[in-house]
Amino acid sequence: MSAQDEKPDEKPPFLYVVVCAAGIAAGVGKLITAAQERQWQVGVIATPLAMNGFFDTAAVEAQTGRPIRSAWRRPGDPRPFPDPDAVVVAPATFNTVNKWAAGIADTLALGTLCEVSGQGVPVGVLPCVSGALAAHPAYRESLTRLRGMGVRFGAPYDGGDGREFGWERALDLLG
Ligand SMILES: Cc1cc2nc3c(=O)[nH]c(=O)nc-3n(C[C@H](O)[C@H](O)[C@H](O)COP(=O)(O)O)c2cc1C
Repeated sequence: MSAQDEKPDEKPPFLYVVVCAAGIAAGVGKLITAAQERQWQVGVIATPLAMNGFFDTAAVEAQTGRPIRSAWRRPGDPRPFPDPDAVVVAPATFNTVNKWAAGIADTLALGTLCEVSGQGVPVGVLPCVSGALAAHPAYRESLTRLRGMGVRFGAPYDGGDGREFGWERALDLLG
C-alpha cells in the first residue's frame, strides 16, 4: 500500500519502523525522513540492543514526535502507538530474522513482528547481514519461512562494499 493513497479526511496511515542492532542503524533517520515525505506517521520500535548506542535515540524521538518503544508496556497502560498500517524492519539482523521465523517473541520488536505478520499487515524487511552469516542454513530457512508468510525482503546487504544501504527500499517493498 502507499500512504499517498489516503483520502483527505482520513487519519494519516501509521508505519512501524523496527530497528535492530546493526551498525548501519545509525542512519535510520534517513528512512524516517523518507517515510514522512510519503505521508506516513512513524513510530519506532527498537530492539533492546539497538537502544544501546546504535542510533541517536533523542534525534529519532524528536523526528517522529513520539517516544521510541523497546520494552513491553505494563498491564493496564494504554497502547502507545496506534495499530500499524504497515511495518518495515530496517536494518534487520541475523539474530532477529532467525528468532522471528522461529516464533520467538522475547523482545517487543519480535513480539510485534510475530503478531503483525499473521494479521495481513504489509511487512518490508531490509536485512543487514554479512555473507558469512547469511550462508548459515538456519538463516536461509528463516527467509524461506518468512517469505511464505508474505513478508517481503530487500536485496541482501552486508555493508562490505561501500554500497549505500538504500533506506527507501523498505518503503518501496510495501507496494
Ligand atoms: C558494532 C556492531 C555492529 C553490528 N552489526 C551487525 C550487522 O550489521 N548485522 C547483524 O546481523 N548483526 C550485527 N551485529 C551483531 C548484533 O548486534 C547481535 O547479533 C545482536 O544480538 C542483535 O540483536 P537484535 O537482533 O535484538 O537487535 C553488530 C554488533 C555490533 C557490536
